[in-house]
Amino acid sequence: MARIQILSSPQWAGAAADCVTEVTARNPVALIGFPTGNTPVPLYAELRRRAAAGLWDASRLRGVMLDEYLDPPAADISSWSWLRRELFDPLGIAAGRILRMPHQRSGIEAACRKFEEDLQSWGGCDLQLLGLGANGHIAFNEPNSDPGSRTRAVTLSAETARANAAYWPSGFVPEQAATMGIATILEARSICLLVRGAEKAAMLRAALQGPVGREVPASWLRQAARLTVVADRAAASALV
Ligand code: PGA
Repeated sequence: MARIQILSSPQWAGAAADCVTEVTARNPVALIGFPTGNTPVPLYAELRRRAAAGLWDASRLRGVMLDEYLDPPAADISSWSWLRRELFDPLGIAAGRILRMPHQRSGIEAACRKFEEDLQSWGGCDLQLLGLGANGHIAFNEPNSDPGSRTRAVTLSAETARANAAYWPSGFVPEQAATMGIATILEARSICLLVRGAEKAAMLRAALQGPVGREVPASWLRQAARLTVVADRAAASALV
Protein backbone atom coordinates (compact mmCIF):
# COMPACT_ATOMS: atom_id res chain seq x y z
CA MET A 1 0.00 0.00 0.00
CA ALA A 2 1.26 3.43 -0.88
CA ARG A 3 1.44 6.11 1.76
CA ILE A 4 -0.08 9.21 0.18
CA GLN A 5 0.69 12.64 1.56
CA ILE A 6 -1.43 15.49 0.19
CA LEU A 7 -0.12 18.96 0.93
CA SER A 8 -0.83 22.58 0.20
CA SER A 9 1.67 24.03 -2.29
CA PRO A 10 3.73 25.90 0.34
CA GLN A 11 4.08 22.74 2.41
CA TRP A 12 4.93 20.40 -0.45
CA ALA A 13 8.68 21.04 -0.59
CA GLY A 14 9.10 20.62 3.16
CA ALA A 15 7.30 17.27 3.15
CA ALA A 16 9.34 16.07 0.18
CA ALA A 17 12.57 17.22 1.87
CA ASP A 18 11.57 15.35 5.04
CA CYS A 19 11.47 12.11 2.99
CA VAL A 20 15.13 12.71 2.12
CA THR A 21 16.35 13.84 5.53
CA GLU A 22 14.58 10.98 7.34
CA VAL A 23 16.66 8.57 5.25
CA THR A 24 19.97 10.37 5.81
CA ALA A 25 19.21 10.67 9.55
CA ARG A 26 19.09 6.87 9.70
CA ASN A 27 21.99 6.40 7.30
CA PRO A 28 24.23 9.39 6.50
CA VAL A 29 25.79 7.56 3.53
CA ALA A 30 22.44 6.51 2.03
CA LEU A 31 22.31 6.12 -1.74
CA ILE A 32 19.53 8.34 -3.09
CA GLY A 33 18.23 8.60 -6.65
CA PHE A 34 17.53 12.17 -7.76
CA PRO A 35 15.37 13.08 -10.76
CA THR A 36 15.60 16.15 -12.98
CA GLY A 37 12.55 18.10 -14.20
CA ASN A 38 10.30 20.88 -13.00
CA THR A 39 8.70 18.87 -10.22
CA PRO A 40 11.70 18.60 -7.86
CA VAL A 41 12.82 22.24 -8.26
CA PRO A 42 11.18 23.46 -4.99
CA LEU A 43 12.41 20.33 -3.21
CA TYR A 44 15.99 20.98 -4.25
CA ALA A 45 15.67 24.62 -3.17
CA GLU A 46 14.48 23.43 0.23
CA LEU A 47 17.32 20.91 0.52
CA ARG A 48 19.85 23.64 -0.36
CA ARG A 49 18.24 25.94 2.22
CA ARG A 50 18.45 23.32 4.98
CA ALA A 51 22.07 22.53 4.11
CA ALA A 52 23.10 26.21 3.91
CA ALA A 53 21.40 26.93 7.25
CA GLY A 54 23.33 24.08 8.87
CA LEU A 55 20.09 22.18 9.49
CA TRP A 56 21.13 19.19 7.40
CA ASP A 57 24.47 17.64 6.52
CA ALA A 58 24.25 16.16 3.06
CA SER A 59 27.95 15.85 2.39
CA ARG A 60 28.16 12.13 3.10
CA LEU A 61 25.12 10.96 1.18
CA ARG A 62 25.59 9.29 -2.19
CA GLY A 63 23.58 10.11 -5.27
CA VAL A 64 22.52 8.06 -8.25
CA MET A 65 21.08 9.32 -11.53
CA LEU A 66 17.91 7.95 -13.10
CA ASP A 67 18.41 8.94 -16.69
CA GLU A 68 20.48 10.96 -19.11
CA TYR A 69 20.39 12.17 -22.70
CA LEU A 70 22.71 10.39 -25.11
CA ASP A 71 25.29 12.48 -26.96
CA PRO A 72 23.85 15.92 -26.18
CA PRO A 73 25.20 18.76 -28.34
CA ALA A 74 26.93 20.44 -25.38
CA ALA A 75 28.19 19.14 -22.05
CA ASP A 76 25.99 21.54 -20.10
CA ILE A 77 22.84 20.14 -21.73
CA SER A 78 22.62 17.07 -19.57
CA SER A 79 20.93 15.73 -16.48
CA TRP A 80 24.41 15.46 -14.99
CA SER A 81 25.20 19.16 -15.32
CA TRP A 82 21.67 20.11 -14.19
CA LEU A 83 21.92 17.98 -11.06
CA ARG A 84 25.43 19.21 -10.32
CA ARG A 85 24.22 22.81 -10.47
CA GLU A 86 20.87 22.40 -8.68
CA LEU A 87 21.89 19.93 -6.05
CA PHE A 88 25.19 18.13 -5.87
CA ASP A 89 27.56 21.11 -5.95
CA PRO A 90 25.53 23.31 -3.55
CA LEU A 91 25.20 20.39 -1.13
CA GLY A 92 28.91 19.59 -1.35
CA ILE A 93 28.44 16.08 -2.74
CA ALA A 94 31.66 15.23 -4.57
CA ALA A 95 31.50 13.65 -8.03
CA GLY A 96 33.00 10.44 -6.65
CA ARG A 97 29.90 9.97 -4.49
CA ILE A 98 27.55 10.08 -7.47
CA LEU A 99 26.77 7.10 -9.66
CA ARG A 100 26.47 8.71 -13.06
CA MET A 101 24.20 7.44 -15.82
CA PRO A 102 25.99 6.65 -19.13
CA HIS A 103 25.72 9.48 -21.66
CA GLN A 104 27.39 8.22 -24.83
CA ARG A 105 25.71 6.14 -27.52
CA SER A 106 28.96 4.41 -28.32
CA GLY A 107 29.36 1.41 -26.01
CA ILE A 108 26.02 2.13 -24.36
CA GLU A 109 25.02 -1.49 -23.74
CA ALA A 110 28.21 -2.30 -21.84
CA ALA A 111 28.00 1.03 -19.99
CA CYS A 112 24.42 0.27 -18.89
CA ARG A 113 25.48 -3.19 -17.65
CA LYS A 114 28.33 -1.55 -15.72
CA PHE A 115 25.86 0.97 -14.22
CA GLU A 116 23.69 -1.91 -12.96
CA GLU A 117 26.76 -3.68 -11.51
CA ASP A 118 27.90 -0.48 -9.82
CA LEU A 119 24.43 0.10 -8.38
CA GLN A 120 24.59 -3.37 -6.82
CA SER A 121 28.12 -2.95 -5.55
CA TRP A 122 27.23 0.44 -4.06
CA GLY A 123 24.63 -1.47 -2.02
CA GLY A 124 21.48 -0.60 -4.00
CA CYS A 125 19.30 2.45 -3.74
CA ASP A 126 17.97 3.40 -0.30
CA LEU A 127 15.53 6.02 -1.57
CA GLN A 128 14.51 6.62 -5.15
CA LEU A 129 12.85 9.98 -5.76
CA LEU A 130 10.78 10.05 -8.94
CA GLY A 131 8.80 12.53 -11.00
CA LEU A 132 5.70 11.48 -12.91
CA GLY A 133 5.74 11.98 -16.67
CA ALA A 134 2.71 13.50 -18.37
CA ASN A 135 2.28 10.16 -20.19
CA GLY A 136 2.87 8.12 -17.04
CA HIS A 137 6.56 7.49 -17.59
CA ILE A 138 9.00 7.05 -14.71
CA ALA A 139 12.58 8.01 -15.48
CA PHE A 140 12.52 7.48 -19.29
CA ASN A 141 10.48 4.28 -19.15
CA GLU A 142 7.81 5.25 -21.63
CA PRO A 143 4.39 3.53 -21.96
CA ASN A 144 4.76 -0.13 -23.01
CA SER A 145 8.13 -0.50 -21.32
CA ASP A 146 8.77 -3.97 -19.97
CA PRO A 147 8.25 -4.14 -16.19
CA GLY A 148 11.33 -6.40 -16.11
CA SER A 149 13.47 -3.78 -17.88
CA ARG A 150 16.92 -2.82 -16.63
CA THR A 151 19.12 0.17 -17.38
CA ARG A 152 19.25 0.65 -21.14
CA ALA A 153 19.15 3.07 -24.07
CA VAL A 154 15.69 4.19 -25.19
CA THR A 155 14.12 6.41 -27.83
CA LEU A 156 11.93 9.12 -26.34
CA SER A 157 8.30 9.55 -27.36
CA ALA A 158 7.50 12.76 -29.24
CA GLU A 159 5.61 14.03 -26.18
CA THR A 160 8.50 13.40 -23.80
CA ALA A 161 11.03 14.86 -26.26
CA ARG A 162 8.91 18.04 -26.49
CA ALA A 163 8.52 18.25 -22.72
CA ASN A 164 12.28 17.87 -22.27
CA ALA A 165 13.11 20.39 -25.00
CA ALA A 166 11.25 22.96 -22.90
CA TYR A 167 13.87 22.62 -20.14
CA TRP A 168 16.61 23.96 -22.42
CA PRO A 169 16.70 27.42 -24.01
CA SER A 170 19.00 26.31 -26.85
CA GLY A 171 16.42 24.56 -29.06
CA PHE A 172 17.83 21.15 -28.12
CA VAL A 173 15.32 18.32 -28.63
CA PRO A 174 16.51 15.04 -27.11
CA GLU A 175 15.85 11.84 -29.05
CA GLN A 176 17.66 9.12 -27.20
CA ALA A 177 18.44 8.60 -23.57
CA ALA A 178 19.74 6.09 -21.08
CA THR A 179 17.39 5.21 -18.25
CA MET A 180 17.16 2.96 -15.24
CA GLY A 181 14.71 0.20 -16.03
CA ILE A 182 11.42 -0.35 -14.26
CA ALA A 183 12.80 -3.44 -12.49
CA THR A 184 15.89 -1.43 -11.48
CA ILE A 185 13.69 1.30 -9.99
CA LEU A 186 11.48 -1.18 -8.14
CA GLU A 187 14.51 -2.65 -6.36
CA ALA A 188 14.99 0.56 -4.36
CA ARG A 189 14.35 0.00 -0.65
CA SER A 190 11.93 2.92 -0.72
CA ILE A 191 10.46 5.10 -3.43
CA CYS A 192 9.04 8.59 -3.16
CA LEU A 193 6.88 9.73 -6.08
CA LEU A 194 6.84 13.53 -6.31
CA VAL A 195 3.84 15.11 -8.01
CA ARG A 196 2.76 18.72 -8.35
CA GLY A 197 0.13 20.52 -10.38
CA ALA A 198 -3.32 19.94 -11.84
CA GLU A 199 -1.87 18.78 -15.17
CA LYS A 200 -0.66 15.61 -13.41
CA ALA A 201 -3.96 14.89 -11.63
CA ALA A 202 -5.44 12.44 -14.15
CA MET A 203 -2.14 10.62 -14.53
CA LEU A 204 -1.65 10.32 -10.78
CA ARG A 205 -5.09 8.80 -10.52
CA ALA A 206 -4.30 6.37 -13.35
CA ALA A 207 -1.02 5.42 -11.68
CA LEU A 208 -2.47 4.85 -8.21
CA GLN A 209 -6.05 3.82 -8.88
CA GLY A 210 -6.20 2.51 -12.47
CA PRO A 211 -5.08 -0.90 -13.70
CA VAL A 212 -1.45 -1.90 -13.13
CA GLY A 213 0.12 -2.43 -16.53
CA ARG A 214 2.32 -1.30 -19.38
CA GLU A 215 0.07 1.54 -20.46
CA VAL A 216 1.01 3.51 -17.35
CA PRO A 217 4.59 2.73 -16.30
CA ALA A 218 4.11 4.53 -12.97
CA SER A 219 1.39 2.01 -12.06
CA TRP A 220 4.14 -0.59 -11.46
CA LEU A 221 5.20 1.50 -8.47
CA ARG A 222 2.30 -0.07 -6.58
CA GLN A 223 4.46 -3.23 -6.50
CA ALA A 224 7.32 -1.40 -4.77
CA ALA A 225 8.39 -2.48 -1.30
CA ARG A 226 7.73 0.98 0.14
CA LEU A 227 6.05 3.76 -1.83
CA THR A 228 5.34 7.24 -0.54
CA VAL A 229 3.53 9.71 -2.77
CA VAL A 230 4.06 13.40 -2.03
CA ALA A 231 1.41 15.31 -3.97
CA ASP A 232 0.09 18.84 -3.79
CA ARG A 233 -3.66 19.33 -3.61
CA ALA A 234 -3.95 20.08 -7.33
CA ALA A 235 -2.15 16.87 -8.34
CA ALA A 236 -4.23 14.86 -5.86
CA SER A 237 -7.53 16.43 -6.95
CA ALA A 238 -8.66 13.48 -9.13
CA LEU A 239 -7.96 10.76 -6.55
CA VAL A 240 -11.08 9.02 -5.30
P1 PGA B 1 8.37 17.32 -14.79
O1 PGA B 1 8.73 15.95 -15.51
O2 PGA B 1 8.84 17.17 -13.38
O3 PGA B 1 9.13 18.36 -15.52
O4 PGA B 1 6.89 17.47 -14.86
C1 PGA B 1 8.47 14.76 -14.87
C2 PGA B 1 8.93 13.63 -15.74
O5 PGA B 1 8.85 13.73 -16.97
O6 PGA B 1 9.38 12.62 -15.19
